[in-house]
Amino acid sequence: DLVEVDGVTFPDYFTDDPIQRLKDVREMAGRDDDVIIAAYPKAGTHWVWEITNMLLRGSAEYHTSMKEELMLELTGSDVIGELTPPRVFNSHLRFRQLPKEMISKNCKLIYVTRNPKDMAVSRYCHNTKSVLAYTGTFSDYLRLYLQGKVAFGSWFDYTLDWHRAIRDNQGYPIYTIVYELLKRDPFNQVKRLASFLGTKTDDTFIESICNQCSFSNLKTSYEKDKKIFGPGDHPSNYSFRKGEVGDWKNWFTVAESEQFDLVVQQHLGECVLEFVYE
Ligand code: A3P
Repeated sequence: DLVEVDGVTFPDYFTDDPIQRLKDVREMAGRDDDVIIAAYPKAGTHWVWEITNMLLRGSAEYHTSMKEELMLELTGSDVIGELTPPRVFNSHLRFRQLPKEMISKNCKLIYVTRNPKDMAVSRYCHNTKSVLAYTGTFSDYLRLYLQGKVAFGSWFDYTLDWHRAIRDNQGYPIYTIVYELLKRDPFNQVKRLASFLGTKTDDTFIESICNQCSFSNLKTSYEKDKKIFGPGDHPSNYSFRKGEVGDWKNWFTVAESEQFDLVVQQHLGECVLEFVYE
């Protein structure tokens, strides 16, 4: 069940009063050293969140006491106010919806992207298993996904909005991470992220982060600590599913893939974006 606010559909579990919640997020107090990770659901948010925390804390330990509540739009300002810095927030919001004060303080922003076909599959699998309890087929879900009738709005609109925000805010510290590149070459990608964040970049430290944040190690850690994701109490293996590039080929028909490409072209033609599909 979705409610539309500010041109974006939000899930009804998000809050009783989404308009007020979005206003509260906009007015949230920010610190100069806050970091925001902006990602559409299933782009690899938790992976990047863990890496970023390790870099900022200078330790390749998992941050077991922290949970999903660090998602900006799901957390009350009372909880946020009590957090010990460095504070790394996740968010599925658009640039214009982020806390004004964090933006005026030039807080660092990490924007995570992933090829949208793998994201659609990942989200479908999550939605069928979690309390969202989606019961349709993948083809049914894909139709909703293409129409943007999913929580946090259309991936196509989200991507266009972020593309325009990055283009129009030249000079604002926004750093883009591409899931597939992080997967292919974690060492160099994490090292580049460390440079952006201004943390230490020595090889041994970076290697230990990459090891701790490999798919299997991160999954094991989340399972061990019973960290939960999203609405309801469901195990992390719904979120740590496969961690691969190209699984979409096991789900899309050729016709669905072609239609998807067409919608990407229609919506995002102006952006000249390239995604890594395999
Ligand atoms: P799959 O469902 O394709 O496996 P988010 O954190 O934004 O919800 O994204 C979840 C997706 O990121 C899942 O994709 C999950 O497996 C993948 N993921 C999480 N940690 C990963 C890692 N260390 N390496 C590769 N993929 C990872």
